[in-house]
Amino acid sequence: MHANKTTPLLGDISPERFLRAHWQRKPRLIRNAFPQFRDLLTREELMQLACREECRSRLAIKQGRTWQVHHGPFQRKQLRQLPARGWALLVQDVNLVLRAAHDLLMQFNFVPYARLDDLMISLAPDGGGVGPHFDSYDVFLLQGLGKRRWELSTQTDLSLIESAPLKVLKRFKPQRKYVLDPGDMLYLPPGVAHNGVALGACMTYSIGFRSPTLQELVSAFLAHLDDDLQIAGRYEDPNLDATATPAQIPSRMTEAALSQINKLDFSRDNVTRFLGRYLTEPQPHVVFNPPSASLSRRSFASALRRAGVELDLRTRMLWSDGYVFINGERIVMDPTQAPRLRPLADRRMLGPGHAVSVSETDQLYAWYRAGYLLLGP
Ligand code: SIN
Ligand code: CO
Repeated sequence: MHANKTTPLLGDISPERFLRAHWQRKPRLIRNAFPQFRDLLTREELMQLACREECRSRLAIKQGRTWQVHHGPFQRKQLRQLPARGWALLVQDVNLVLRAAHDLLMQFNFVPYARLDDLMISLAPDGGGVGPHFDSYDVFLLQGLGKRRWELSTQTDLSLIESAPLKVLKRFKPQRKYVLDPGDMLYLPPGVAHNGVALGACMTYSIGFRSPTLQELVSAFLAHLDDDLQIAGRYEDPNLDATATPAQIPSRMTEAALSQINKLDFSRDNVTRFLGRYLTEPQPHVVFNPPSASLSRRSFASALRRAGVELDLRTRMLWSDGYVFINGERIVMDPTQAPRLRPLADRRMLGPGHAVSVSETDQLYAWYRAGYLLLGP
């Protein structure tokens, strides 16, 4: 999507303008964001996804004023016995298993992939929803099947019911109300209180974004430092003097520790390498499927010229400075060659006839054999 071109997706403003005026700032209702929107799957198919390990799924059931939350994967029969009212089934990561869901998510790639999270699809019967709450992430809520009434509030009282197994606001004071039809979309920045109530059977598509807490980021960086840590030797004090204050930590020991800690690499370069690995690390439930009958290197090279390649739906690939990262790994290749792989990361495909060097072909072949990418159609 061109940053300066207007688009119905954002309500006939450009991504640039949307980002300036709304992103992380204020809600935006977009009527007919997806004209003639058609659901990507049926209710039955969504329930089947909730039974698969690849998608994280939850079922929230409300009985009177209390909530119960069950986590998937579910058994198909558990989902057959749902009551007529008072529940919501939420299935995350649909983009990892359904091409159409991935393609929908990709329409939001005016935001960097490092910030895009997943496509969640929810299903609720008339009156269903997860109750009034706020999220810590930006989200686009696209209406599919049926209608949904969204109530919003910019209230600052965000206290939650302590005993509830999901985040439900203690006191929700709606200020605005919208009824969304299929194809309508609501953007919410983090922290805006909202409540979505299904009007008839309803499916909502949440385009979710990723924003790690700063605590998570720094802890993960420390783990990255630890992964690479190789410090030889042991503390020594060959000229130790006898002490009359044995409880005192020797200052020589503090100096020795400090001098090692000062050698840790807090450089921008190391932070870049950390971020690339961290942001492309697949979720723990993701498994790649290598091709069942893999081609030889030579047949792969000719198929690559003929058909191109595309990244598997589950592959995360990013680049920064001279580095390219894929699925939690940093690519170790000639620094003049690595940037040539950037278009594959940005567009998630290389078309037929794309000029590739011998070392790029080697790299692509290794990823093909690992199941990270597929030959084009
Ligand atoms: C839903 O689709 O039911 C929940 C979406 C949300 O409120 O974040
Ligand atoms: Co929400």
